[in-house]
Amino acid sequence: MKHYLMLIFIPSLLALPTVPTAQPSDPLGLWNHIQPVLSDQVIDPDYNIPEVQDAPEIPFDERDSPTHAYSVDIAFHTTPSDMECLREKGYHSVFVRALNPIGNTYFDSEVLNTINNAYEAGLGSEVYITPNINSTRSGADQISLVYQNLRGNGINVRSIWIQVTSPSNWEVPMAVRINFIQDMIQRAKDLGLSVGIYTSFYDWLEITGGWNTFSSDVFLWYWHVLGVGADGETNPTLEDFRPFGPWRQATVKQFGQVEKVCGMIVNRNVYATRTQLKSQIVHFSNGNKKEEKTQIRVGGIGF
Ligand SMILES: *[C@@H]1O[C@H](CO)[C@@H](O)[C@H](O)[C@H]1NC(C)=O
Repeated sequence: MKHYLMLIFIPSLLALPTVPTAQPSDPLGLWNHIQPVLSDQVIDPDYNIPEVQDAPEIPFDERDSPTHAYSVDIAFHTTPSDMECLREKGYHSVFVRALNPIGNTYFDSEVLNTINNAYEAGLGSEVYITPNINSTRSGADQISLVYQNLRGNGINVRSIWIQVTSPSNWEVPMAVRINFIQDMIQRAKDLGLSVGIYTSFYDWLEITGGWNTFSSDVFLWYWHVLGVGADGETNPTLEDFRPFGPWRQATVKQFGQVEKVCGMIVNRNVYATRTQLKSQIVHFSNGNKKEEKTQIRVGGIGF
């Protein structure tokens, strides 16, 4: 349980996509193997922050499984060799954060670098955003900011994942939160994008009250870990999924958080491959000019 305690004192929590600061209560008793949360005010000066654990290797027979694939999520600078290393270790794609929630939110141009590196290494890319409900930008504008920057830089983005985690980041009335999320989903759809939400059973309950009156064509990427690090992983399958909100099925599961892979600190995900279109270069002519344009296509899990 010391892992939970420790997390509260990591100052860069916002930079990590999903680290939970606390496990919320469990009204349905579904997750009662999770221990109660310790007070977030307790500071143990003797506490040693443990080293981030190496993630287990993906077993060889799962690296080219016809049924599922592994992925990590990334919100920092990467190099080509980082991406080549992931590919060698059997990962098939990366989830890259395109919107940084700090301040008024901004487009993180590192996403362009990582998408390119991933493409060169033979990995697919998915884009996710960490929205900020305190920003003066509306939910819709946070989506548009990302879309315009990706398109403007030659990325053919097809889908977008929206992070809805960490209830303490959503300190506004619940109706305002729901409107904000709805606004993001609607703008993404208006732009022709597929949309997914990255959340958990608890996060969704705490943040939206279990909002379920929207279309279930919105994909679900849920996280379920017992704690951070390799020791806290759950099974790398979607078999523990239980319906919540509008979702009767899930597309991606995050089963590990804050683990080291290829020297990077990442979260680990798994998804069904039959639904993935690999990131690929799309060639198309541009009107009369007969100009060939080349774009990397991003997004495709869940289609
Ligand atoms: C928004 O503001 C509230 C209140 O100041 C704060 O608790 C919350 O963490 C902020 N959310 C984000 C995403 O910065």
